Amino acid sequence: MFESKPDIQGRAEIETLVNTFYERVRADDLLGFIFDKVARTNWETHLPKMYAFWETVLFRSGGYTGNPLAAHAKLVPRTAMGREQFDRWLMLFRSTVDDLFAGENAGHIKNCAADMANVIYARINQVADPRFDPANLTAEQRERYARYKTSAGT
Ligand code: HEM
Repeated sequence: MFESKPDIQGRAEIETLVNTFYERVRADDLLGFIFDKVARTNWETHLPKMYAFWETVLFRSGGYTGNPLAAHAKLVPRTAMGREQFDRWLMLFRSTVDDLFAGENAGHIKNCAADMANVIYARINQVADPRFDPANLTAEQRERYARYKTSAGT
């Protein structure tokens, strides 16, 4: 049967999304211990911070003013923060969104998460952003990139 899901409309849906996502993260074999054992996350403060973060990303109204790059960079010497961890994080985030919501904002939040995961991964590991590996581009993006490279003479 066709079941229509709501879109993310505001703070209430963001809280549901964040709560469900971190329940799954905490139960995950690759990611759970990074929060509970390595960072010893205080969930009473982390969850409201993440509501504010996503509300700021999606609606520019959450008042988030932290530094996500620094928060993740300081984990690098202490635990694995590689492609495998970021792929798992993104897979859990996308599937949580899809299980609960559908629509324009649901699509947008998944795109934002993917962009930020790539930026954070690349910056903290000091590697090239994986989006710019031609293997990760669509055929159309590859063609545009090839044309750009030719015209730029590089
Ligand atoms: C391998 C993937 C990831 C892991 C293991 C991870 C883990 C963590 C941990 C342990 C913290 C600190 C929590 C605390 O205060 O104890 C944190 C903070 C945070 N994470 Fe992640 N994270 C990951 C990916 C991401 C991505 C892709 C985003 C953004 C889309 C993100 C957004 C944030 C934000 C906004 C904070 C709060 C930073 C602040 O203190 O202002 N994380 N993360």
